[in-house]
Amino acid sequence: MTQTAPPSFAPASAIPSSWLYESFRIANEREREHPGQIKLHVGEPAFGPPDSVAKEFADAVIDGRARYIDVQGLPELRERLTGKLDTVNRVDTEPARLFVTPGSCQGLSALMRSLVHAGAEILMPEIHWPVHLQQALLAGFRPVFYQLDEHFAPDPESIRRVAGPATRVLLLNTPSNPTGAVADLPLQQALYEIADQHGWQIISDEAYEDFAFSGPHHSIAALERARPAAQRLVNSVFTFSKGPAMTGYRLGYVAVSRPETAAAMRSVQESCIIAPNAPVQYAGLAALDASGALAGNHDFVRGNRDTALAPLVEEGLLPALPGGGWYAMADVSSTGLTGEEFAAELMDRHDVVVVPGSGFSARPEFAPDGTLLPLVPGGAASGLVRIAFCVDREQLTTGVERLVELVREKRQG
Ligand SMILES: Cc1ncc(COP(=O)(O)O)c(C=O)c1O
Repeated sequence: MTQTAPPSFAPASAIPSSWLYESFRIANEREREHPGQIKLHVGEPAFGPPDSVAKEFADAVIDGRARYIDVQGLPELRERLTGKLDTVNRVDTEPARLFVTPGSCQGLSALMRSLVHAGAEILMPEIHWPVHLQQALLAGFRPVFYQLDEHFAPDPESIRRVAGPATRVLLLNTPSNPTGAVADLPLQQALYEIADQHGWQIISDEAYEDFAFSGPHHSIAALERARPAAQRLVNSVFTFSKGPAMTGYRLGYVAVSRPETAAAMRSVQESCIIAPNAPVQYAGLAALDASGALAGNHDFVRGNRDTALAPLVEEGLLPALPGGGWYAMADVSSTGLTGEEFAAELMDRHDVVVVPGSGFSARPEFAPDGTLLPLVPGGAASGLVRIAFCVDREQLTTGVERLVELVREKRQG
């Protein structure tokens, strides 16, 4: 009897670390010999959390408020977040369907694992945050990509076209990393209607909710406030890393759509984390008390966008200023270089670090037996580079000036 040999490697080994991680590594190594590089590759903001956050974190540790807690998080934090979701986001939830997570990244991973079925497809934007792709593949989803319009917003017609009988989940990220595109209310209504017609779940990553510039931020779950929880579609994911800038604290939260998803997520979280870090959640409560700082952070990033990114639009490298978020994707294809070549030259000759676009549009391929083939960067964003604009304004302005100079030099050939 012939036996089929088991695959020689686990799916995780076919997923390389992302371009983000690679560019952090390369820039960090280079920093030793070239100190003072302008770092536009990493979304680490120029501002930090309110002082009360560090104090409350330290106090919680010193007071011994650091024991195992409920797998879903501190009841008082979940109560507060339920209130915040209701008043700020117009999202109706309850503490029983709310999960506090170690960063929203872990929340997204756990959520995908809670929603996946054998053979299920997830619809993702063709230019996406590579971590979403890693999460989907590791959960066992088959990613299928929908197209974006000229401003990088999801194209509903493309979503209808690429969906199939195995589609289970639609991923929406607004404001978007890496493009800065914002899905406005009419677009969200169109996307919700398609998902509802097909019975899909929606994952709404709202990490940049406090940084919508082209109009107010809308949470797509607000559209289903009146619907019974058992029939809801939207799973909403938020973080303390962006608005209150608690990047290294690792604190996020997920409001899941249905009681059955909450049950699945409890099992996933128990197996992954037992419970989220307790002191960090007291720090999170302090951040909610200091939410006045959010407006200043919003204005700072918006000011960066309006002043420092304008030359990219004038030079024809951006179709318009990004509608939100912390990132813009500049099109450098007119230089004749790929995004990878351009980013390498910008770093080597001008000490400015950006991330090549090809890592944001890679498309996984599968062998006939379904095995994931090693993931290779490429695709729709290959002629683009990503610029983080949440950083120090002077650094950003100089970095963008040098980028534009390099573009001009290359165009003149
Ligand atoms: C779109 C998006 N979602 C989620 C995250 C995860 O943030 P954290 O794990 O720090 O909450 C990030 C971080 O860059 C992001 O850009």
